[in-house]
Amino acid sequence: MEKLLIIDDNVDIRQQLKWGLCEDYSVLLAGDVNEGLGLFKKNRPKVVILDLGLPPHEDTSIEGFRGLGELLELDPYVKVIMLTGNSERENALKAMQMGAYDFFPKPPILNELKVIISRAFHLTNLEDQNRSLQRAVEQKAGDSGGMIGQCPEMLSIFSTIRKVAPSDVSIFITGENGTGKELVAQAIHDSSLRKKHPFIPINCGAIPENLLESELFGHEKGSFTGAHSTVQGKVEYAQKGTLFLDEIGELPVNLQVKLLRFLQEGVIQRVGGRHDIPIDTRTVCATNVDIARAIKEGKFREDLYYRISVISINLPPLRDRGDDILILANYFLRMFNEEYHKRVRRFSAASVNFLKNYDWPGNVRELRNRVQRSIIMSESTALEPSDLGCTTEQSELTDNIQPAIRLKEARDNVERQMIGAAIDQQNGSIVKAAEVLGVSRPTLYDLMKKHNMAPLSTYPEKTL
Ligand SMILES: Nc1ncnc2c1ncn2[C@@H]1O[C@H](COP(=O)(O)OP(=O)(O)OP(=O)(O)O)[C@@H](O)[C@H]1O
Ligand SMILES: [Mg+2]
Repeated sequence: MEKLLIIDDNVDIRQQLKWGLCEDYSVLLAGDVNEGLGLFKKNRPKVVILDLGLPPHEDTSIEGFRGLGELLELDPYVKVIMLTGNSERENALKAMQMGAYDFFPKPPILNELKVIISRAFHLTNLEDQNRSLQRAVEQKAGDSGGMIGQCPEMLSIFSTIRKVAPSDVSIFITGENGTGKELVAQAIHDSSLRKKHPFIPINCGAIPENLLESELFGHEKGSFTGAHSTVQGKVEYAQKGTLFLDEIGELPVNLQVKLLRFLQEGVIQRVGGRHDIPIDTRTVCATNVDIARAIKEGKFREDLYYRISVISINLPPLRDRGDDILILANYFLRMFNEEYHKRVRRFSAASVNFLKNYDWPGNVRELRNRVQRSIIMSESTALEPSDLGCTTEQSELTDNIQPAIRLKEARDNVERQMIGAAIDQQNGSIVKAAEVLGVSRPTLYDLMKKHNMAPLSTYPEKTL
């Protein structure tokens, strides 16, 4: 049985609720905030019913707010339902802003309260499931070189990485900006037999053409003006390890020839040098340009392409990764939240919408940066689209209708499920089901009609 904590100073209300709820829940009772917090720490209930006006300040909401704050501090996911007097509507709304799950007027009407409690438990259980899924994905990321992903394309990439890592085949990684090409290269290195040796990345697009050859292959002393000493190139540094040639499409044609020779013969010559230096490395290349087109246009040598692309890995853009967007977003949220000691717990419904519908031209890097920035700036527990740098135009595109639909969908789903379950439990008796659900019979009929629920004839009415 789920545990339910009730904190109220009114003995009658405590007893009434206990009698009404003890069949469904294991009910814990407390008369003030401190007693309640003690019971909470010991029993960790997922749902708490909390009176707003509690001793020693029965006439104000101070103690209720304090209790709510401390409960959420102890467990950010606890669902707190506030019990409020008639005159406390404003404070009830304030409690909602602080993170209360719902509020309910006094004196509590048991059947209605029951529905709210059962929804709260339903929601915490869903959230628990989501969190353990998220944890499972993040744990698995340990095996994929820290890469997060669950969509079929990413799973197949992880499996390719595992298969090819131990051999020395050359790997060609393609994908838009920020899709994780370097991360894949690093993951291949880390799960290879070369992992104890260096992983040397070099960005062929970032180094001026006249320096690139020396950067790659090194140079001998005196080989050109300013070459005061002999210098090893990146290729030599990658001895026994992995050489990662990023933006390989930018490599000038004359260097393509030299690279091809190195790949075929396993030797290099430094600039100005005369003897061959044997090099034992594995090469991984990456590009975000269309290499087939570069070949057609004569900008990239076809023979080199075949040599470097024994195995190709194509990283899908973030916008095509489905729920991975949210998984990654939550992963970064947790990570930066810890790093900056913030109290951001989640993305608001509107943010979730934005995350799902935005185009992500900068892919995972952009997502990471946006979440990082918004956590640094955020003052509240939930990130809104504006925190994520979503412009009004973008938010008009994504959150106008959809959050409303989502909330409504969620409500409808719960309603449908509860009605279905109640009717089943009562062997099809609408009267009894209505009683259990705390609604009148005509209301239940209306709800069933609204949800297009099974025609009544399939539920033989036993008692009318
Ligand atoms: N699947 C993933 N899981 C976790 N973090 C990721 C993932 N993919 C990318 N990242 C993170 O996103 C950022 C960009 O990744 P990376 O540098 O590997 O992309 P890239 O494709 O090489 O980008 P560019 O084309 O701009 O060079 C990095 O901070 C990286 O850690
Ligand atoms: Mg890169």
